[in-house]
Amino acid sequence: MRLLVCGGAGFIGSTFVRLRLREHGDEVTVLDKLTYAGREENFHDFADDPRFHFVRGAIEDAVAVAAAIEAAAPQAIVNFAAETHVDRSIAEPDAFVSTHALGTYVLLEAARTNALRFVQVSTDEVYGSIEAGTFTEQSPLRPSSPYSATKAGADLLVQSYFHTFELPALICRGSNNYGPYQYPEKLIPLMILNALHGDRLPVYGDGMQVRNWIHSTDFARAIGHVLEHGVPGEVYNAGGPDEQENIAVVQRIIQLTGADDAQIEHVEDRPGHDRRYSLSSEKVRALGWTPRVRLGEGLEQTVAWYRDNAWWWEPIRSGDYREYYERQYGRSLG
Ligand code: NAD
Ligand code: TYD
Repeated sequence: MRLLVCGGAGFIGSTFVRLRLREHGDEVTVLDKLTYAGREENFHDFADDPRFHFVRGAIEDAVAVAAAIEAAAPQAIVNFAAETHVDRSIAEPDAFVSTHALGTYVLLEAARTNALRFVQVSTDEVYGSIEAGTFTEQSPLRPSSPYSATKAGADLLVQSYFHTFELPALICRGSNNYGPYQYPEKLIPLMILNALHGDRLPVYGDGMQVRNWIHSTDFARAIGHVLEHGVPGEVYNAGGPDEQENIAVVQRIIQLTGADDAQIEHVEDRPGHDRRYSLSSEKVRALGWTPRVRLGEGLEQTVAWYRDNAWWWEPIRSGDYREYYERQYGRSLG
């Protein structure tokens, strides 16, 4: 297929591009604004592939989107482009509203004009928190942060384009991802890098919040299944095979890095913190998808990747991220 992948310079988008080039022989154009989270380094092992093209631009910029579509002549758009960190959405929600609401609208209009299949990459966070049981695609949307509320708004807009204009649009909602190339503001890479550097490990509240972990290659494959086999207008959840309390994830990272339990520091909880996420994946499994990576093995591989790839995270950890970290945690990185 010829694909336009928006937000393809980020963590999951670049993982998806790598898989589509290697395993499907697709021709892929990435359209990405390169925010702090978008990194050309993520293309390092496929930048020279003649089937890969990169255009720098924002999804809310209709002129840039039209030019990218003209150059790529895609059969489908897959939209990963987003602001993705809950803590940043609490501190500064503006970009979340413009990228998720306006950006998704601009892409939907472009898809409609050019009669393109459209896959929106979304999150389990649109359903809110669940104490027991698991969310299905029928569960009501009850987002609780500016991040998840604006993602939910984008999902509703995507569904409206199917209902009103018969745009062949689909949504794939993933649970918490982890794996190589994840920006270190997120729990797992933050804890791995802090553990390796002897920094404190800041656990929000009691650390008993539960996340449903999926390896980024498994989520990327689920999105591929939805792109190829999904029914237009439908939503597909892709939840990982394991649920774990945050504190248990941190303790496992301490073991894998040889860090010290004394590095754990319980800090003030996140405002409005969702207690638990859990996602049922029966519908996407019926399309032939199944997760391949269990958390135990995936976490071990992820720790090894960060240990071996300082070239990737050193520029981040010595750049703007330091200032973000000080603002967010009130202490500096070692
Ligand atoms: P990321 O923050 O690593 O990457 C986001 C990418 O989008 C970056 O390359 C950034 O430059 C780009 N971008 C941001 N705003 C843009 C704009 N206005 N125009 C063009 N490009 C823009 O995020 P990620 O973790 O790879 O997440 C990708 C998608 O998957 C998001 O839609 C997110 O909501 C969804 N998702 C993430 C997770 C997770 O655990 N990380 C789980 C489920 C769903
Ligand atoms: P995060 O990676 O931000 O993902 P999300 O909020 O989208 O689930 O956080 C995962 C969990 O880890 C969440 O319960 C918040 C918690 N957390 C900490 O305890 N300390 C931290 O420094 C961070 C970033 C997250």
